[in-house]
Amino acid sequence: GPVGPLAGRKVLITAGPTHEPIDPVRYIANRSSGKQGYAIAAAAAAAGAEVTLVSGPVSLADPDGVTVVRVESAREMLTAVEAALPADVAIMAAAVADWRMAEDAAQKIKKDGSGKPPTLQFAENPDILATLGHHAALRPRLLVGFAAETQNVLDNAASKLTRKNADWIVANDVSPATGIMGGDRNTVHLVSRDGVEDWPDLAKGEVATRLVERIAF
Ligand code: C5P
Repeated sequence: GPVGPLAGRKVLITAGPTHEPIDPVRYIANRSSGKQGYAIAAAAAAAGAEVTLVSGPVSLADPDGVTVVRVESAREMLTAVEAALPADVAIMAAAVADWRMAEDAAQKIKKDGSGKPPTLQFAENPDILATLGHHAALRPRLLVGFAAETQNVLDNAASKLTRKNADWIVANDVSPATGIMGGDRNTVHLVSRDGVEDWPDLAKGEVATRLVERIAF
């Protein structure tokens, strides 16, 4: 069987964006590349864990030794995550769309000639991290979330830790000038109930390795 510090542990990871359909040909998405979540999945597998990676639409190859479940929407991601429970560790790195269409159209929405654009009605998506955090029977023993923000990074991370009942929040500034979104490097802060650790600027693979090294039972 597998060897390494996480041998025998089940690790569940989400990564990438979600796509929320508007109609059969259009969707709402975000700029997540999935690189950080895929790097964490690879690092956890290299540490001997049994890894399930629930991935939104990305253009990345499956990491070696990882079970990859590909989904499109937030609701599909939640279903796949719940199907992968129980897990010892869950790391929710996906950039889940906060909103979907209240009703997605069965047919392509057409211009009606009036010159007035359509009005889109949104509904809030389920929060996968918070669902796991408040899961009565199957909350993972270590639950890690991400907080990608463009301002008030640490305050937002601390409030997510509490609201979603996570153990750690990996917080980062994704303002366009940082080049983090879609890039290969990341500067993160590890926020827990014990305080904040500022990590140096690292390759996303190095962030993944450090994070996995911190997971000990
Ligand atoms: O609230 P916000 O989206 O900034 O929180 C980010 C964290 O919550 C990430 O870990 C993300 O994967 C998770 N999340 C989630 N489901 C959502 C929204 C966010 O799992 N619907």
